Amino acid sequence: MKKYKLALVGATGVVGRVARQVLEERKLPIYEYVFFASCKSAGSKIEFMGKEYIVRELKEDSFDEGFDFAIFSAGGETSKKYAPIAASKGCIVVDNSSAWRMNKEVPLVVPEVNSKEIKNNNGIIANPNCSTIQAVVPLKVLDDKYKIKRIVYSTYQAVSGAGIKGINDLEHGNEEGYELQKFAHPIINNCLPHIDVFLENGYTKEEEKMINETIKILGRPDLKITATTVRVPVINSHSESINVEFENSFDLDELINELKNAKGIVVQDDVQNDIYPLAAEASGHDEVFVGRIRRDFSVENGIHMWVVADNLRKGAATNAIQIVEELIDNSINLV
Ligand code: A2P
Repeated sequence: MKKYKLALVGATGVVGRVARQVLEERKLPIYEYVFFASCKSAGSKIEFMGKEYIVRELKEDSFDEGFDFAIFSAGGETSKKYAPIAASKGCIVVDNSSAWRMNKEVPLVVPEVNSKEIKNNNGIIANPNCSTIQAVVPLKVLDDKYKIKRIVYSTYQAVSGAGIKGINDLEHGNEEGYELQKFAHPIINNCLPHIDVFLENGYTKEEEKMINETIKILGRPDLKITATTVRVPVINSHSESINVEFENSFDLDELINELKNAKGIVVQDDVQNDIYPLAAEASGHDEVFVGRIRRDFSVENGIHMWVVADNLRKGAATNAIQIVEELIDNSINLV
């Protein structure tokens, strides 16, 4: 079997750390890994698959030595600058930032939903926003079967999605003299209806990302979607209330079975026994957990569901690594 060389850019960050774990677990046919970060952590040591690696500083000539794949998790500015450089050297980039997601030339991929888009890449494939990934996995199943008319998202997002500074604000925010590193207000004992920056129309950029990315991934430009995204004092795993209205009528038991039979979804829905998806339990897993599936009696054909997933795994690292696996398994653009 052919083996490949992979670069992990942002290897020392919150997502980078989880990506290393997932790579260790999934054992891809990679013969060489190289870990990049900024000059700040260049030279530091990483233990990976029982070996010690030295973190390298990302530079313009970093990709000259030749890579098959690069997973980028180092923020939008780094991706904007370095992803095209990597791609120009024949490396296929899977980018976790928002830099390329809405570019028409760049596929935006969740493998369970639209893996067929992967082959349409010009060297860059975008990984969607964490809250979008976990939402579209069940939504695709329901759209195919009942045709979605409108979606209302309300999210309850963990601080790990805001990187190490967000985690610090929750873990250390009560310490005397602590100055907030990430959030505009204390996250302890609070829910902040404010993720990413505010736009002129009153929405936040996170809300706009969820709306636009859902439309692109489902390939449904006509879809009506609205969103309110909220940061909550949870370390890891995003929870989402998703209200969906369909064009077609449905039988609720059949709808639940469609979700139960879908790849990547675990239905946890037994309210008599207090069973429904929980952030603390989803952490460390790669599936999307769906529960509280019930008819919305205020419209003709609608449901509510509660959707939870590990935002660092399925919402970021695992999804990116699944894309690399798809490229390898289907020999897409590989020489
Ligand atoms: P470093 O650890 O050297 O700062 P997080 O989102 O958790 O803060 O992580 C961001 C990741 O992106 C870190 O690994 C960070 O490296 C890396 N990073 C930030 N800026 C750059 C850059 N200009 N070039 C390469 N890696 C970067």
